[in-house]
Amino acid sequence: MSIPVIAIDGPSASGKGTVAALAARALGFHYLDSGAIYRVTAFAAQRAGVDLTDEPGLARLAAGLDLRFDGVEVYLDGQPVGDVIRTEEAGRAASRIAALPELRAALLERQRAFRQAPGLVTDGRDMGSVVFPDARLKIFLTASVEERAQRRYKQLIEKGLGANLAALLQDLRERDERDAARAAAPLQQGADARLLETTSLTIDQAVAQVLAWFREAGDPA
Ligand code: CDP
Repeated sequence: MSIPVIAIDGPSASGKGTVAALAARALGFHYLDSGAIYRVTAFAAQRAGVDLTDEPGLARLAAGLDLRFDGVEVYLDGQPVGDVIRTEEAGRAASRIAALPELRAALLERQRAFRQAPGLVTDGRDMGSVVFPDARLKIFLTASVEERAQRRYKQLIEKGLGANLAALLQDLRERDERDAARAAAPLQQGADARLLETTSLTIDQAVAQVLAWFREAGDPA
């Protein structure tokens, strides 16, 4: 029987990462934050002087990245990268390179390698549509753009990073637009994904819904 995957996709700052990590912990499953891979790739490119529009150069760099996760920390070349990949600027750079199909292809197998027993919970934009099309449960997790701006604001302040609510709202609208309009793996709810609208849900309620749907999905016969 194949190793179960819960794929949680959705727009920026919807809280999908928090929900996915907590669901993984509750189930004793592995967790993959696929956005972190795009963020760290953009960071590594900037550090190596590879232009963010140089598609073959980025794909080469991505294929050779020495990348490791330990909990929420990401290690690049054996060194923890810390919160430099969590800024809005890093998110924008990630979103720019994420539009490039060659780069996405170069990251595909790396992401699939996280599928390990007893299971995986993962979040991103194309986890259910491209990376794990046979995921046992696919969820599209979203919230209103105003609520997402509030969530991101709170998250950045808690990390001690600067934040401006009006600028965040503007940035989220642009990011939504770019992630949804791109040709390669655009952000959209797949026909086989369940919609989890979290504008008025607490984190615990959202996690409980994921777990309930997963129980419902059961073991395939
Ligand atoms: O939550 P937020 O969008 O701020 O950040 P993220 O999930 O860390 O993703 C950063 C960027 O990477 C997104 O804006 C997407 O453009 C891109 N991404 C993607 O294209 N595919 C994924 N599976 C994950 C992230």
